[in-house]
Amino acid sequence: MNRTAFVGVAAGLALGWLGLPALLYVRQAQPLDFNHAVHAEQAGMSCADCHGFAADGSFGGIPPTSSCTACHAEALGESAAELQLVEQYVVPEREIPWLVYFRQPQNVLFSHAAHVVLAEIECRRCHGDHGLSTTLPPYEYNRISTYSRRIWGPRIAGGGADPWDSMKMSDCSGCHAERGVTDSCLMCHR
Ligand code: HEC
Ligand code: HEC
Ligand code: HEC
Ligand code: HEC
Ligand code: HEC
Repeated sequence: MNRTAFVGVAAGLALGWLGLPALLYVRQAQPLDFNHAVHAEQAGMSCADCHGFAADGSFGGIPPTSSCTACHAEALGESAAELQLVEQYVVPEREIPWLVYFRQPQNVLFSHAAHVVLAEIECRRCHGDHGLSTTLPPYEYNRISTYSRRIWGPRIAGGGADPWDSMKMSDCSGCHAERGVTDSCLMCHR
């Protein structure tokens, strides 16, 4: 291959590699903006106040609208997001159709109790600073697989600077190997 052709091919590959994520992912806005930081700072709430475990060990996930009503039956402040919360969800008693950033494919088994309660792994190890965020980033999903971008992470080649940048099969098994957890296909897949 002569030099010009080589440079052309390299440039083409680089463009594809960098440009592909932009074409591969579709952005969607969340139904409502949510501010985690204000709840920790002004309402003094901890993660477990909204994301707790039931007596049978099952994880509550994202809290239902009924858990917001005690404080937001009427607006406390003047933000547009809170007015929208009260008018569109609390008063009509409707659930908020949150888009779940960390949702895994349906055939993957994951239990918060095993990781948070038994293994004592911090939320931040897997979720980064989402629990401290003041505003919500757009949700992005892969147009071919429809999976959330948080699974593959920012780069197609995988990984990122921080351990929470991606949560692919190799990320799960990588930690299991580090911690001496022997896994098998059927442990994580139905
Ligand atoms: C007042 C209730 C409340 C408190 C307190 C709270 N959260 Fe949340 N959390 C929510 C709501 C509502 C959502 C859905 C909107 C969003 O994605 O931020 C959410 C979403 C999340 C998500 C994203 C789930 C996904 O995959 O889309 C993570 C991770 C999370 N919370 C972690 C935390 C952590 C860590 C803390 C403690 C530092 C915390 N939360 C405290 C209400 C709360
Ligand atoms: C070992 C990694 C790991 C840890 C630690 C972890 N999570 Fe998650 N979290 C996940 C995965 C994976 C999912 C997606 C689960 C699915 O789709 O079945 C998820 C999903 C969620 C969701 C979305 C709703 C749901 O239930 O799927 C919330 C909210 C959440 N996590 C909050 C937390 C909070 C709060 C903590 C700390 C108390 C925490 N997580 C600790 C990996 C983790
Ligand atoms: C223990 C009381 C309490 C609970 C429960 C609570 N909040 Fe709040 N929330 C507050 C306080 C305090 C503020 C700050 C004052 C304000 O701006 O309204 C706030 C502010 C907000 C705002 C405006 C944020 C901003 O950027 O100004 C939104 C939106 C909101 N909360 C959503 C929710 C949702 C959704 C839930 C249920 C999952 C919830 N809150 C549960 C106390 C609470
Ligand atoms: C940071 C480390 C870490 C990460 C990341 C992690 N795990 Fe685990 N996982 C553990 C540890 C430690 C245990 C053993 C818990 C125990 O039983 O004490 C475990 C246990 C399990 C179990 C068996 C317990 C049960 O639920 O029945 C499954 C299944 C599992 N993990 C799935 C996953 C999946 C799927 C992912 C990725 C989405 C994942 N894990 C990511 C550390 C991790
Ligand atoms: C520690 C948990 C874990 C183990 C063990 C595991 N997987 Fe996975 N697997 C995942 C997660 C999480 C995903 C989704 C994220 C991704 O695509 O990397 C996945 C995705 C897949 C997919 C792609 C399916 C899709 O919907 O895109 C296949 C196929 C698969 N796994 C097969 C296997 C086989 C075969 C084994 C045994 C050799 C195995 N897995 C073991 C966690 C695991």
